[in-house]
This record gives sequence, structure tokens and C-alpha cells, in this order.
Amino acid sequence: MVEVLPTARLWPPTTMRVAGRADASGSPVMGRLGGPIRDIALVHLMTLGWISGSILGALYIVGPLALDVPLPGAKADVVACLSFWLGAFGMAAGFWTNRFHTVGTASVFVLGAIVFVGVRTMRGLSRSRVPRGVAVHVGLAFANAALAGLAGLLLTLRHLRSGLPWSSLSLAVAHAHLAVLGWAVMMIFGMAYRLIPMVLPTAMPAGPTLAISAVLLQVGTLGLSGSLAVGWDVRLWVLIVIAAFASFFAQVYRMLRMRRPRAVELPTPDWSTYHTGLALLYGFVAAGLGTWLVFGSAPPDVGWVYGAAGLLGFVSQMVIGIQGRLFPLQAWFRAMVRNEGEPPARSSHALVDWRLALTVLLLWLAGLPLLIAGIAGQRAHLVATGAALLLGGTLANAWHGCIMIARARR
Ligand code: HEM
Repeated sequence: MVEVLPTARLWPPTTMRVAGRADASGSPVMGRLGGPIRDIALVHLMTLGWISGSILGALYIVGPLALDVPLPGAKADVVACLSFWLGAFGMAAGFWTNRFHTVGTASVFVLGAIVFVGVRTMRGLSRSRVPRGVAVHVGLAFANAALAGLAGLLLTLRHLRSGLPWSSLSLAVAHAHLAVLGWAVMMIFGMAYRLIPMVLPTAMPAGPTLAISAVLLQVGTLGLSGSLAVGWDVRLWVLIVIAAFASFFAQVYRMLRMRRPRAVELPTPDWSTYHTGLALLYGFVAAGLGTWLVFGSAPPDVGWVYGAAGLLGFVSQMVIGIQGRLFPLQAWFRAMVRNEGEPPARSSHALVDWRLALTVLLLWLAGLPLLIAGIAGQRAHLVATGAALLLGGTLANAWHGCIMIARARR
């Protein structure tokens, strides 16, 4: 039997069958894409392996560059990195093979790495001159990651021991919103306030108003996740989350009005920044669909479009767009360290290959709508074509990174 939330539904849609549970006949309930728990393995490969891994790695570049936090990689950081990757792989393998002991054990490695990087970053931020509003976003993001991880552990326990009081489906939806909004989106907001001015470039925003989006997003996310977990009305909290997005976009608008001259060597057009713009567009779409699901009478499959637009369209594409601008800097610094402090002959902007950046953008532009249409309409060939295009985009992105490293060395 499919469990249905008593409150307005956000994710997953009512048609979703939740992995690992049995239906009325006692046979295991299947996930939307096939095996009993494989959807959840894929979800965590993407949310933990790709999105969270990228955030943790990016902090080591963004820290010294934009947050005034020197984060030199030491042996402990290598251990944390290995622990994260082993843990993320172990969790995905555990979900894939339906072994929840493995999921629980592996998640401890993941959480240990997140807490380690969080403590290092927050120690540095307490001494840095970065606006407090930015530090508040980063601190809350790490706190939410730990909370979401604990909720994930409770869910794992529920799979291991039946008879525990809370509902698995309600808690899974609460956990998903806490992790995605509280961890990934909170971190994106905070980092964007430092990175957008460097990337465009514009004047750096400052002042206490930067904290407004953090406070609204925190209150909205905690209220939303708590209400989803216990089955209360979520409408007030959805409005607060929308207000957080509005406050973030208001800051972006303010920044756009304070443009500074751009670097001469930066390729024009700058396709990675276009990719970030596409991500923001999907952010609007996801927020609109979420509002429709909660306040309107949207068909249940809209929930799939909402989840994919939020996770892939907004969060994942934001990671790619920002990577496109951070990676040249990383390649440039790596080459300088290799040359014992001698800067590379080219500037970091000249390392970008505009054809590859455009290829990545086009593959995502075409692949994502196909994938979303395929999942929503249950059309396997559309899912396969969309996924193949996104795989192409991901490989092209990795290839672009290798090319930049090679160019910086020359
Ligand atoms: C490291 C600690 C984590 C653990 C132990 C964990 C565990 C779980 C478990 C057991 C489920 C529910 C499976 C079910 O019963 O249906 C789940 C669902 C989910 N998790 Fe996690 N998780 C963790 C971290 C994360 C993070 C960091 C994110 C996102 C950034 C995330 C995103 C999701 C999503 C989106 C779902 C919902 C799947 C669905 O219902 O469609 N998780 N997680």
C-alpha cells in the first residue's frame, strides 16, 4: 500500500512507492525507476556524492579566495576526504543492495567528514573579516547538514527495526527538504553573496541585510521539515521559504546594479555564468511548482517535476555554473604552487575553453527537460536520452577541468 502524507504534498508525489516497504500483498514496494531501493541510491549518489562533495571541495578554494579563511590541505583533510568518499559510496551501495546496516555505518563516515570541514571552516570564519551575514549562512548550512544526517540515521534505524513510532515516508520527505533547503540551498545563498560579485564582477554586498535570507530560510526550512515529519499544515512555512528566496533574489538584483568593469581576457560570452543564470531560472520554476503543489490542486506527477527542477535544475546546475568559474582559479593556483610561487604565463581567465563550456551548457539545456518529461510521464526512452545527454555534459565538464589544468602548467 502506498503511504500518503496527510498534509499538502510536496515530494514525493502521491504516485511514488517508497523503497524498502511492503505492499498489501507483502511483496516489496518498488521504486519509480526499478529495483526496491535503487532510486534512493541514485538520489544519494547525486545529493551526497555530487552536490555535497562539490560543496565541501569548493570550500577549500572559496575559503582563502572569498571568505578570508585559509584552508591549507593537511593530512587530516585527506583523511576527511577519503572518509567522505568511502562513506558516500558505502551508503549508495547499501541502498542499492538493500543493506541498511551498511547505510547506517557508512553514513557515520560521511557525517564525520562534514563535521570536520564544518568545524575548520567555522573556526576560520570566526576570525575572518567577511560580513557576518555570509558567515551565518555557512554556519547554519553545516548545522542543517548534521541535523539532516541525523534524520537520515533515524530513517535507517526505522528500516532495521519495525515498530518505531515515526512514519518512514513523512520523515523521508522532512529529511529531504532539510538536507536540500537547509544544507545545499543555504550554502549556495551564502557563497553566492561572495562569488557573484567576483564572477560578474560587481561591488561586494555588505551589511546586516545579508543575514535576512539566512534567518528566513532557516525558520522556513525547520518549520517545513518539522510539519512534514508530523503531518501538520505546511503553508505558513512554504511562504517563509518563498520570502527567503525573494530576499536572496533582491540581493542579487542589488549586486547586478553595481557592475564593475570585467576582466579583458574573460571569454565573451561567459557560458559558465549563463549556466548559473539557467540554474536561477530553474530555482524560480521549482519555487513556483512547490507553491502550486501546496496551494493549488496540481496533479500528483507535478511533484516529480518539482523535485527534479529543484535538485537537478537549480542545485546541480548552480554547482556546475560556479565550478566553471572556480576551476580556472584552482588550476591557476595549483600551477603556481607547482612552480614554487612563480605565477603561470596565462591569466586564470585565459584557461577557459569557451567551446567546452558551451557544450556543457547545451547538453544540460537539452538533457534536463527530456529527463524530467520522461520521469513525469514514465517514458523510459526519454529518461534514457536525457540521462545520456547529462552524462555527456558531466564528462565534458570533467574534460574541461583537465584541459584547464594542462593549460595552466604550460
Ligand atoms: C549522511 C547522512 C544521510 C543519511 C543516513 C540518509 C538516509 C536517507 C534515508 C534512509 C532515506 C529514505 C529512504 C526511504 O525510507 O524511503 C533518505 C531519503 C532522501 N535523502 Fe538522505 N540521507 C543522508 C544525507 C542526505 C543528504 C545530504 C541529502 C541532500 C543533500 C539527502 C537527500 C535525500 C532525499 C532527496 C531523499 C528522498 C528520497 C525520496 O523520498 O524521494 N540525504 N535519506
